[in-house]
Amino acid sequence: MVTRLILVGLLSLCSPSSSQECNRALVENMDFPGSDITFLYSPDVKHCQLLCTQHPSCSFFTFVRPDWTRDDRHFHCYLKSTPSGQPNTQTPIQGATSGFSLKACTRDQKPCLSEVYQNVDFPGADYRFLFTADSKECQRVCTQDPACQFFTFAQENFSNKKTRYKCHLKFSWNVARTPIIVRKAGATSGFSHKVHQTEYFDKECQRKLFPSTDIPGNDFLSLPAVSPEHCQILCSAHPRCTYFTHNRYSFICYLKNNPDEMVTSATEAGTSGLPHRSCQLDGNWATVAHEGIDFNGSDIRYEVVDNAEACQRKCTEDPHCQFYTYADENVSDRNYWHRCYLKRVITMPAPPKVTKVTNASSGFSLKNCF
Ligand SMILES: *[C@@H]1O[C@H](CO)[C@@H](O)[C@H](O)[C@H]1NC(C)=O
Ligand SMILES: *[C@@H]1O[C@H](CO)[C@@H](O)[C@H](O)[C@H]1NC(C)=O
Ligand SMILES: *[C@@H]1O[C@H](CO)[C@@H](O)[C@H](O)[C@H]1NC(C)=O
Repeated sequence: MVTRLILVGLLSLCSPSSSQECNRALVENMDFPGSDITFLYSPDVKHCQLLCTQHPSCSFFTFVRPDWTRDDRHFHCYLKSTPSGQPNTQTPIQGATSGFSLKACTRDQKPCLSEVYQNVDFPGADYRFLFTADSKECQRVCTQDPACQFFTFAQENFSNKKTRYKCHLKFSWNVARTPIIVRKAGATSGFSHKVHQTEYFDKECQRKLFPSTDIPGNDFLSLPAVSPEHCQILCSAHPRCTYFTHNRYSFICYLKNNPDEMVTSATEAGTSGLPHRSCQLDGNWATVAHEGIDFNGSDIRYEVVDNAEACQRKCTEDPHCQFYTYADENVSDRNYWHRCYLKRVITMPAPPKVTKVTNASSGFSLKNCF
């Protein structure tokens, strides 16, 4: 018993630290060089800081502002991490702002990003177009459309006369996706009980699944999903998805688009279904523990716990955790035994690209601002 306690103590000492201090400071004209995990695009430093906060392993970042003059890396948000959680060096530099993840500061509240950025384009990720009188009206349409996360508006003096007043509604994922799903003896994986979506509706959904059915063709996107129910969540979140097929062997969720017809065929390998729209889906899908499944990667940190149920509770309690994997004593490498890995991906609005375009303006949905 004593040995076990010491062992547990040692293991938690070794785990990547979760107890870093809350540091909200933004350091202007400063680079935290090196230690890059990746870069993403952001229209401003506040958005970049939130991306770092939502990224599983980011501890600090450097944002290249639009007034940067050395090259054209404007709007690059460099996400960074070191074992200590602190930058190894700090270098003064014009046109960049650096700061820290807010993981230690707050609950994971949904960000209100109310600014409309002048002379900025968010290219790509379009799913619907219309013409509106001004950028504020474009933003209102985006706020009211459940799928819209951000928009770009071509102003009255936009260079291409044919697309003046055009409002582009754009989508990015706002639900948990599990980037890698692999079979692994001794691993058990599942979701936080707090992951939910479609909070705008009070009507309950009829869950529509077609067992042992394929809907061949019309794929526009395929991504991992652990169950047909998880695949249905992804299809429901995507504005272009008209129906889907989930393969139970590959864990691939095929999102399909054909609003004109739906042709089904029998298959042993798959389950198909329809998205839910304008209704509140029950969260039962998220309470299932998937035995023999590893949601590999996307780790925030790990803790040592007794069993998969305790791991599920840890994930639900942690405001940043979206999904987890627990390793029991059937995992081949004993170093992993009893480890509960808490995991997440970015679910805030994230434009695939941000660029300077004269007389265009861009911004985010105000759904989280009320
Ligand atoms: C942007 O708008 C200004 C003011 O109307 C106009 O003078 C300018 O030519 C426009 N620039 C482009 C690139 O469309
Ligand atoms: C799990 O992910 C890590 C990187 O995150 C990778 O090196 C490893 O090969 C992956 N394992 C499997 C089984 O996919
Ligand atoms: C390991 O697997 C065996 C056989 O599948 C099972 O009986 C046992 O409960 C498992 N052990 C743990 C700790 O889950």
